[in-house]
Amino acid sequence: MMGKKLNLDKNEMKELFFSALMHDIGGVKVDGHIIELLTQIPDVYGQKSNFPIFIHPYRSETILESFPTFRKIGEIAGAHHEFFDGTGFPKGLKGEKIPLFARIIRIADAVDIALSLHKNESLDEFISLLGISSGEEFDPELYNIFVSLVKNEGLFDLIKTADAVEKNMAELKTEMKDGYFLSSSDTLNRFLKTVAAITDNLTSPGHNHSLRVAEISVQIAYLMKLSESEILAIRWAAFLHDIGKLAGNRYVYRKKDKLTDEEWLTVRGHVQRSYDIINSVAGMDKIAYYILYHHENYDGSGYPEGLKGEKIPFASRILHVADAFDAITSNRPYHKKKQQEDAVSELRKNVGRQFDPAIVDIFSKYVIS
Ligand SMILES: [Fe+2]
Ligand SMILES: [Fe+2]
Ligand SMILES: [Fe+2]
Repeated sequence: MMGKKLNLDKNEMKELFFSALMHDIGGVKVDGHIIELLTQIPDVYGQKSNFPIFIHPYRSETILESFPTFRKIGEIAGAHHEFFDGTGFPKGLKGEKIPLFARIIRIADAVDIALSLHKNESLDEFISLLGISSGEEFDPELYNIFVSLVKNEGLFDLIKTADAVEKNMAELKTEMKDGYFLSSSDTLNRFLKTVAAITDNLTSPGHNHSLRVAEISVQIAYLMKLSESEILAIRWAAFLHDIGKLAGNRYVYRKKDKLTDEEWLTVRGHVQRSYDIINSVAGMDKIAYYILYHHENYDGSGYPEGLKGEKIPFASRILHVADAFDAITSNRPYHKKKQQEDAVSELRKNVGRQFDPAIVDIFSKYVIS
């Protein structure tokens, strides 16, 4: 709404939208969302001395600037905790030296944090509370625009409930849709690889599970003589297969003790969550479909649907073998790394029950030779 009020053109609106969407991407080292940490340390001096908080805008910039089309967005994300009076971080930029869109995001970000800290304040109380920071944290002109949007144009109605946010987000997504930022398949490939690295960072620290599953899956797909476009689809499905583990409690993936029934439901739920996330991206429906079935077993004992044999998409059967092979050959909380030969014999033991015999056959010959 602030962007529209400033009469930004269509391209500027997109830039603002996407930089706002990605500004905290550098917060990935933190368990949960960086915003949870920020609400625990509302004071800027405290934030500056907390390393993960201090460094996250810089990390956002580093991640985004590695894509030529995201470079400008990266610059904005890098400055989203700069304060108008120069007391922010990481660089201590001041006034107009802070990119305009970063100043807008600063206000939106602070509003979101304040809303979770002061749930019961009236609108006027809330605005005067935030107003204390105008001129210090906020660009005063932009803050005035924000206040008038709240008072005269019902800005808070847009974000009042989760349903309202979701509805407006759906509209915005249609409005902002364009292929520009991920123009080439090479850029898209690199971006999805980054998403895989982020997922791995949070769910299999130091191990690169999704990146390895991608390598193994591609190797299998190649051995099975699949087409080039199919191999690419499998590679992307592997990058993204566990993205649903980011949503919900993440400690369950690191837990050494036996999982409770509820925790086990969370674990099994990751395939549906991965599917929902990827299926919401235009053009990714086939990849989402492959992902949904990566834990189905050949004999029908898997999840989420208990599909059997040929009913399971071939790509999903490949992912399932690659996923298991990587799990066996790497150190997990519940077992030590085994040799590749042991892994192959474990795969072979579960042929027909868990895995497609043809896939295991061709892959184990390749590993052992
Ligand atoms: Fe942030
Ligand atoms: Fe999985
Ligand atoms: Fe996995």
